[in-house]
Amino acid sequence: METDFLVIGSGIAGLTYALKVAREYPQKKVLILTKANSDETNTKYAQGGIAGVWDTANDSFEKHIEDTLIAGDGLCNEKVVEIVVTEGVERIKEIIEWGANFDKEPGGNYALGREGGHSEFRILHYKDVTGMEMERALIEAVKKQPNIEVNTHCFVLDIITQHHMGYLVTKGTPDIECFGVYVFNLHTKKTDKILSGITLLATGGNGQVYRTSTNPVIATGDGVAMVYRAKGRIENMEFIQFHPTALYEQGVKGQAFLITEAVRGDGAILRNVDGEAFMERYDPRKDLAPRDIVARAIDNEMKVTGTEHVWLDCRHMDREKFLHHFPNIYEKCLSLGIEVSKDMIPVAPAAHYSCGGIKTDEWGCTSIKHLYAAGECASTGLHGANRLASNSLLEAMVFAHRAYVHSVEEMKRSGLPVYNNRSANIPDWKAEGTTAPKEMILITQSLKELQLLMSDYVGIVRTNVRLERAIRRLDLLHLETENLYKTTEVSPQLAQLRNMITVGYLIVKSAQFRHESRGLHFNTDYPQKSELVQNIVL
Ligand code: FAD
Ligand code: SIN
Repeated sequence: METDFLVIGSGIAGLTYALKVAREYPQKKVLILTKANSDETNTKYAQGGIAGVWDTANDSFEKHIEDTLIAGDGLCNEKVVEIVVTEGVERIKEIIEWGANFDKEPGGNYALGREGGHSEFRILHYKDVTGMEMERALIEAVKKQPNIEVNTHCFVLDIITQHHMGYLVTKGTPDIECFGVYVFNLHTKKTDKILSGITLLATGGNGQVYRTSTNPVIATGDGVAMVYRAKGRIENMEFIQFHPTALYEQGVKGQAFLITEAVRGDGAILRNVDGEAFMERYDPRKDLAPRDIVARAIDNEMKVTGTEHVWLDCRHMDREKFLHHFPNIYEKCLSLGIEVSKDMIPVAPAAHYSCGGIKTDEWGCTSIKHLYAAGECASTGLHGANRLASNSLLEAMVFAHRAYVHSVEEMKRSGLPVYNNRSANIPDWKAEGTTAPKEMILITQSLKELQLLMSDYVGIVRTNVRLERAIRRLDLLHLETENLYKTTEVSPQLAQLRNMITVGYLIVKSAQFRHESRGLHFNTDYPQKSELVQNIVL
């Protein structure tokens, strides 16, 4: 199969980019591949909202930029922060035009929420299901665009690349080119070769690498692993953001339900098992300190008191207002016998967001030619060492737009698709010599081991010994899984496990290279921030 534009992923980044290029080139084909249902994405679960300078009487670009830089703890790319904050408002207006709704005040102005690390009220939201509403609007717009085809349940295994020796030195441009992907079709159980002029990776996050995560099961870091295998550049993978308040449900595994930070923005208070509002002991901003500080404080309280959760107290909040702003959370808690105006909510930190990822420039270009990345899988420089709440939906839209602008220029300049004169040389997927998998337990047990070791050794607080243990165990898992991958037929479960082990390795290796504590990375063997401000690129 051949296509002009190939998009991997149907979250906010992939859909935004696809819509834009499809509208620019109605005669060209845009193909979206996604490994699950089209709306099964991190985007769908976003609750709090999208940050943007809307209330210009009280807020300003400068304030949003400053808040982002403070959260990023010295590692943000200032130019990128300025780009995202200033261009973001236009992107929000665009998605409103495409049909997304955001809550309004009775007077007609947008209702703005506040979250940790924000100095002003600037979060647009749709109740507590903002992501679901944005995803709905985008999917509907995509359905109306005749030149976009969406193929669901198509698991991309690897990008197809060609490496040119010496190209980098002589021409100053990347020495690797991307021509498309190999994809396993879950309907036909066959692996196809898809050739493309331009490819965008919008494969989202990797929270599932940990035992407890707010991310759905699709969040396995596939795009990052594929680029690393293709020898592209990956950056700052050690900065994994743990959301302070995932709902704690004893014995429940898999995706943890999020209690949005906006609940604390509206006045909820964290209490330890003794009922103490402990955040004031950790930071003057108390419950609205940036996420790394709140998550570490909760982690410490849990360890000191020997409990598996702390409490989120909403009992003093206006019940009607709570019901209006957070109907989904109210219902979820009620289904567990928690009535938020009478009972406190048990919460604990959970892996939530990957600040690092596939290194891009300010146009979403990766280190591989004709390959772009946007959204959570990308490392653009916006988040630095810690992402400011509600900045990621914004970043995804801004970078999907920038990747679109650059792709159009590229299309005009070089008359892609480039695969035309090369397609004969690109081999089909080779499955010879492999046999049907015999024991699923080999995959499921390794997955459990991976998630356990990442949570126990590479969590909120790290040490050199824990990281060394993690890498030794990862080496063994890598060896066993590579052997299995080479000898058995392709299965998405195995391919995904392989990707997750690679992502785990990248997180641990980057953490080992960082000899300091900064932002989300806290290592008790290097408790101070280093004067050397550097990104870790693998
Ligand atoms: P996603 O929306 O995750 O989409 C990834 C897509 O890639 C999916 O379609 C998936 O199927 C596909 N894919 C992955 N691998 C493959 C493969 N191998 N083959 C084919 N397809 C593949 N951010 C905010 O700014 N504000 C919030 O309020 C907020 N709340 C959040 C709440 C929760 C519970 C979570 C989990 C995240 C939240 N975030 C929030 C973060 C934000 O939602 C995500 O960072 C953002 O939606 C990521 O969008 P994306 O397009 O990059 O990826
Ligand atoms: C939340 O609603 O608390 C999550 C916001 C985010 O991750 O940006």
